[in-house]
Amino acid sequence: MPDDDNLGEKPVIMPHTYDGIQEYDQSLPNWWLFTLFASIAFAFLYWLANFATDTTPDDRVAVNAEMDALEARQLAAVKNLDDATLWKMSRNAKTVAEGQAVYNSLCFTCHGPTMAGMKGLGFRLNDEFWVHGNTPTAIFNNISEGIMFEGKPTGMASQKVLGTGRIAAVTAFLLSMQKEGAMKVIPRKDEPSQLAP
Ligand code: HEC
Repeated sequence: MPDDDNLGEKPVIMPHTYDGIQEYDQSLPNWWLFTLFASIAFAFLYWLANFATDTTPDDRVAVNAEMDALEARQLAAVKNLDDATLWKMSRNAKTVAEGQAVYNSLCFTCHGPTMAGMKGLGFRLNDEFWVHGNTPTAIFNNISEGIMFEGKPTGMASQKVLGTGRIAAVTAFLLSMQKEGAMKVIPRKDEPSQLAP
């Protein structure tokens, strides 16, 4: 495609010759220059949006969220909840977030907004010490069936109304703060929240 600038002019030929090859001395066509500068500008804006600032969503974050949601659905469909499944749920961001929402709407009134427990109301839930069982399934059962002490129901009334899904999620939320194999059973009188002011 001839460039307008060079129309009607004889092409200028550079004085040098290499291996019998000669070179024209013409300005580059405008459409070609436009494409070059446009792609430089695009590359700069692309870099700015994707790498230098967080203007566009990070693909990895989006993919991880999708994978979490998929795994959360698969785990929620598991019929026999065992320790392994509950541990898996506790490492799933979506399930843990669901459980945290349950905690913040129901459990914080007795166990405290920071989970440190409240004297006479509810036990501390964010340390590795457990009175009523130190396995994921024991914690799940404590939440779904409530806890009896010396034959009487404690303040930890049955939360059965929540349904299995949300009980599993809030169990996962509690477990998300624990390390596998590090949870210990302590006597009821040693529970730190009972000594708290
Ligand atoms: C009305 C107050 C109250 C509410 C609401 C409550 N709890 Fe409790 N919870 C208690 C009390 C009291 C105990 C200690 C039982 C005892 O006296 O031995 C307890 C104990 C527990 C334990 C056992 C702790 C251990 O050391 O073994 C877990 C787990 C627990 N609660 C989770 C939850 C979750 C999750 C929720 C929300 C779905 C919740 N609780 C809501 C009062 C409450």
